[in-house]
Amino acid sequence: MPAFQQFSTNILEQFNTDIHHFISACQLPSPLHDATLYAMTNGGKRVRPLLVASTFAMLQPQTNITHAVRRAMMSVECLHGYSLVHDDLPCIDNDDLRRGRPTCHIVFGEATALLAGDVLQNLAFEAFSSDFFGDIANEQTKLLLATFAPRARRMVMGQMLDLNGENKTLNQQQLEAIHQDKTGALIEASVLMGAICANANPAQLQALENFAKNIGLAFQVQDDILDVIGNTEQLGKMAGSDEKLDKSTYVKLLGVEPAQQYAENLFQQAKQIIIDNFSAENLLLNLVEWLWQRQH
Ligand code: IPE
Ligand code: IPE
Ligand code: MG
Ligand code: MG
Ligand code: MG
Repeated sequence: MPAFQQFSTNILEQFNTDIHHFISACQLPSPLHDATLYAMTNGGKRVRPLLVASTFAMLQPQTNITHAVRRAMMSVECLHGYSLVHDDLPCIDNDDLRRGRPTCHIVFGEATALLAGDVLQNLAFEAFSSDFFGDIANEQTKLLLATFAPRARRMVMGQMLDLNGENKTLNQQQLEAIHQDKTGALIEASVLMGAICANANPAQLQALENFAKNIGLAFQVQDDILDVIGNTEQLGKMAGSDEKLDKSTYVKLLGVEPAQQYAENLFQQAKQIIIDNFSAENLLLNLVEWLWQRQH
């Protein structure tokens, strides 16, 4: 098995166990427990936790994943899980399908899905205050929280801008601001938290922030493209959802092929930052390669 595949299989096995334990420890009343677990275990790609772990592994190749890395992985995936449950609600994107299965509100009803999202948002922050992942009384935990919290808020701000952008023609600068907030911010948080866990120095953090801005934007541009060129079965979510809502997307702005070219350039720039500042062969670069090739 290639090194990155082996790494992600191992990491995600531990991560899936952590999710079950972390959520079960809350003793959520029925059906909130099932809805919350459903939102977190229905087959996501785990891009953000893998970014945390791969960034850490690039900087500390000899060290096993620490408690702090597991904490950051949990935090960002809970926030992401919450964002998707709410994103799919009838009052936002009104989607019935996610990861090849009915969305949380279709299975559990809107009220429970809303609350499952609320719990996940809370859990994203509880990860920093709970001793579930070891000692919290240290500088690193404070720094992780200070990195994460404003970016979690930016996700929500981006969702507002995304709704404001429906039925409008935005320019590229406006669209980039939406994408950087609604999707880029959590990707930035993931990379930076992985780096903080590895005690990265200020120059490394700066390089990694620039790297993350490129892949964060590229990731949402890809999402816009896949919504148009992908089919529902392959995506696990309803193809053509953006056009139906007349969302402002890179495909609407540029067309499919220029949008693909744009995403490719962003991925290339991101790779170059890693090669120039770190090394030409590492797990983070493998992850970028995987993201670039993704079909869903
Ligand atoms: C989908 O994110 C929503 C965006 C921010 C683009 P992912 O593509 O990471 O979704 P899952 O978690 O793998 O389903
Ligand atoms: C989602 O963007 C961004 C979030 C913060 C959830 P989309 O609305 O395009 O994500 P999908 O396509 O539904 O996964
Ligand atoms: Mg949306
Ligand atoms: Mg959506
Ligand atoms: Mg989308």
